[in-house]
Amino acid sequence: MNDSFAKEVREGLSAPSKRLSSKYFYDETGSKIFQEIMAMPEYYPTKCETRIFQAHAEDIIALSTSNHLNIVELGAGDASKTYYLLKALTQSGKNFTYSPLDISEEALSQAKDSLNVRLPEVEVRPIRGEYFEVLDRLSQDTEAATKLVLFLGSNLGNFNYAGAEAFLKQLYDALKPGDQLFIGIDLKKSPTIILPAYSDPAGITARFNLNLLMRINKEFDADFNTKQFKHYASYEAETGEVRSFLISQKAQDVNLKKLNMTIHFDAMESIHTEISKKYGQEEFKQLIRSVGFTWKEAFYDSNMYFMDVLMEK
Ligand code: AVJ
Repeated sequence: MNDSFAKEVREGLSAPSKRLSSKYFYDETGSKIFQEIMAMPEYYPTKCETRIFQAHAEDIIALSTSNHLNIVELGAGDASKTYYLLKALTQSGKNFTYSPLDISEEALSQAKDSLNVRLPEVEVRPIRGEYFEVLDRLSQDTEAATKLVLFLGSNLGNFNYAGAEAFLKQLYDALKPGDQLFIGIDLKKSPTIILPAYSDPAGITARFNLNLLMRINKEFDADFNTKQFKHYASYEAETGEVRSFLISQKAQDVNLKKLNMTIHFDAMESIHTEISKKYGQEEFKQLIRSVGFTWKEAFYDSNMYFMDVLMEK
């Protein structure tokens, strides 16, 4: 983990267009700030998806015909939304286990603790790791249970279109025929709704983004002055990509002692830290088709800001 982080920081900050990967947002502090983001009035995706689950959990579960399910959630976080699905599953009398996968130890232990209290009958087997590691494990799995993979909360949005296609292809290859994927997709909508969700007036998202520099300070003995970088998010209507940046407020040098590097920033030079892609309906259908999944059913919130799609290999 630390090695891949070091490698990506080294490469990303040496590149002509500086970048850092959003997967490193989620240290203990970052996971806590993300929970604050989910609670902000401007951050509509969590609210929409929670409403979808509250309204449709039973209909969603009914689409899984197997009575013996292995539920694997990629990027589960604190699993606060998944609760509704697990509750409906418990009530359906199906036999299932739940494996939340996340990069954050902190979020996983919260998920396990809160599910143990709210749904004590559910068997929770947390897996700490990255998406691609778990895909390997999934493909080697010889269990008879049908898999239901959950990929919620618009986590797919952290890939651009080509990245999403490659990722879903790998996932498809790791599954057996009859296994299902249930995925949360943030849909294209007015930029006046999207942008505030990624640049809130209270500055919570800015803190989330800047925490990445603080993490680098801690882990690589670096001296980023977080007051000299500002959060900036843009929305590109054509690709549906929200792109988040940290912008250097002045010309400055930053030392990363443990990596033996000094990085120069020009005034107003940016570090690209995240993409949060929004999809058009037809665009997502096309993506699914090209990967090979069969579309079963989509569920929407009343504004059609968000959709959750069940598909099958
Ligand atoms: C966790 C990837 C779904 O992109 O909406 C929220 C992360 N970044 N605000 C998203 C995030 C800034 C979030 N995902």
